[in-house]
Amino acid sequence: MTRPKTVIIRYTAVNRINHWITAICFVLLVLSGLSMFHPMLFFLSGLFGGGQRTRAVHPWIGVLLLISYLGLIIQFWRENLVHKDDIAWMKSIKYVAINDEEHVPPVGRNNAGQKMVFWSMTLLIPVLFFSGLVIWEVYFGAATSIPVQRVAVLIHSLAAIAAIIIWVIHVYAAIWIRDSVRGMTQGYVTPGWAWRHHRKWLKELAAGEHGKPTIRNRP
Ligand code: HEM
Repeated sequence: MTRPKTVIIRYTAVNRINHWITAICFVLLVLSGLSMFHPMLFFLSGLFGGGQRTRAVHPWIGVLLLISYLGLIIQFWRENLVHKDDIAWMKSIKYVAINDEEHVPPVGRNNAGQKMVFWSMTLLIPVLFFSGLVIWEVYFGAATSIPVQRVAVLIHSLAAIAAIIIWVIHVYAAIWIRDSVRGMTQGYVTPGWAWRHHRKWLKELAAGEHGKPTIRNRP
């Protein structure tokens, strides 16, 4: 598809590379984690070269995910701070659900749903990491007692289920809002997209409130 004449830069190359590294790590963790979660899903370990290899590689991907997500936190925490507009957005959630955005108050760069995804993952990824350390037998097995490790397994599994639910919501929303994925693959959105989904943000950009120019005309 040809690139539109006027575009708005939504994510820089660094934002996007960091996001997709996070996403790949997350998917690999889900697949390897599920293969260890229930015998019915053990077949998934074939993707990683068998049970032992899956068990060895899963925690290292977890370390990568934590580092990668820290990069996202550094880049995005500011725009995810909770604002009073978010309450108004939450109150109009029934209109969001039926795609009637004319009844939804103008949204800034992120809506309250996106902020919830961001902060939920900001909580869940460190919980997964630290509970994972406790059950990383080969390095830390001797550091804690078996009852402590049992509690850690439970916390790790519950946090993983919560993170998977949040991730499914995130991917569903990304696909549901047409052309959002292009923002995260090619970095840009159209003024029409911003007007429809993030009107307050578009107005702020037009007023030059965000410093560097992000609205560009194609030469
Ligand atoms: C694998 C499938 C995934 C897809 C298809 C996907 C898609 C997207 C898209 C399209 C956006 C841009 C939304 C917009 O501009 O309004 C986005 C933003 C984002 N995604 Fe994902 N994502 C995926 C996985 C993940 C995972 C696993 C995480 C975290 C663990 C994550 C965290 C984020 C964050 C933090 C943002 C930026 C929102 C902000 O500004 O805070 N994504 N994603």
